[in-house]
Amino acid sequence: MRRTLLIASLAVAGMLAAACGSSGSGDAGDSGSSSGTSGSQPSGSGQSGSTEGGAGGDVGIFTWWADGSEKDGLDALVKIFGEKYPNDKFVNLAVAGGAGSNAKAKLAADLQAGNPPDSFQGHAGAELTDYINNGQIEPLDDLYKAEGWNDVFPKDLLARLTVDGHIYSVPSNIHRANVVWANNEVLTKAGLDPKSPPKDIDAWIADMDKIKASGVDTPLSIGGTWTQVELLETVLISDLGADGYNGLFDGKTGWDSDGVTKAIEHYKTLLSYANTAADGDDWPGATDMVIDGTAAYNVMGDWAVAEFNSKNKKDGEDYSYFAVPGQDGVYDFLADSFTLPKGAKNPEGTKDWLRTIGSADGQKAFNLAKGSIPARTDVAADDFPPYQQWAMDQFKKDTIVSSIAHGAAVSLGWGTDISNAVSKFYGSKDVAELQAALVQAAQNNMK
Ligand code: GAL
Repeated sequence: MRRTLLIASLAVAGMLAAACGSSGSGDAGDSGSSSGTSGSQPSGSGQSGSTEGGAGGDVGIFTWWADGSEKDGLDALVKIFGEKYPNDKFVNLAVAGGAGSNAKAKLAADLQAGNPPDSFQGHAGAELTDYINNGQIEPLDDLYKAEGWNDVFPKDLLARLTVDGHIYSVPSNIHRANVVWANNEVLTKAGLDPKSPPKDIDAWIADMDKIKASGVDTPLSIGGTWTQVELLETVLISDLGADGYNGLFDGKTGWDSDGVTKAIEHYKTLLSYANTAADGDDWPGATDMVIDGTAAYNVMGDWAVAEFNSKNKKDGEDYSYFAVPGQDGVYDFLADSFTLPKGAKNPEGTKDWLRTIGSADGQKAFNLAKGSIPARTDVAADDFPPYQQWAMDQFKKDTIVSSIAHGAAVSLGWGTDISNAVSKFYGSKDVAELQAALVQAAQNNMK
């Protein structure tokens, strides 16, 4: 089943995009208009607020948006939740650590122990399918119908939230993982033009040599293991192309192929230009190295733009961004979505939270703060700053592929096996050993 979903979802070039990010009627009336009494009462065309002031009681929300700009995004949602549902009390169950590096283990233990939060974040695609196949989350078909959401989210995104005809979560955003963030001053000093990004990985490495020669020891910044997985996945996209990369997840591309060897060699070379990182180092530290000029480049998902904003850096003046070299026209995609776990203590409160996530004003407030673009198609692009306008435009045109590091392409178990292999490689730098471990991970986990 999962494989069917994946194959279907990987064949999406431009389709998600066709629907997403288009300028629409803006913040189309999702706030207010609370009427009716039951969370599952139909409330008409896309209107939310089908409980008067909310169900009441604690609503425990589990995320890893615990600090900094990620918490700012969560706070923006919580504000709207409070306005729409004043009876409900938001309880923050966030566990710090980018990409859920600590949160996912805690969540798994809580779910296993029959102690779920009222809602948790799960990535659209393979990761969410795990929770569905494990019987850990409830379908939300009625809520989708009542809120009119089948018409406002891109069809191919909905397909990634659906198993056996039932839909299981509400997407809050769409992030892009394959972005290079660059410090303009550092590039200029090295004789490079921030407006002319390198064309492929080899040209990028040549630019890093120039940056080193200009006196910057670590042209590339990295954080802990998951940021390294993200870097590796982007190199795989460059060296295999979008189709070749997609084939890694359905068996059409061998993990033992020459293309993967080439990518690992490239990845090894890139690491030789990077700072030393410990397993648990989080992403803001790596992005801050670009902000403060101790590095020229950081490959990071577009939550990074919120970090630049929080340090008052100016788009185009202080920093620039471009797709990882060799993959212009490819959008390495992930989407956060929120669930109703089986056995949640306050399921009606959860539905209030989910209505907030799915509302146009919730999506606008959250994504403005988070750096991502709205999953809904009716939130106006004009209301967003330049980065997100660029991302919305690219998302419409680009070939969409799924992120490994952020649960879109691989299941939780597969992701863990890849992370362990990448972590080991950071110490060993043994290309053959990493490739063998990636082959093994695919054998163990591909369904
Ligand atoms: C991703 C998540 C993003 C962002 C990032 C860094 O997995 O989808 O929303 O939080 O991790 O923590």
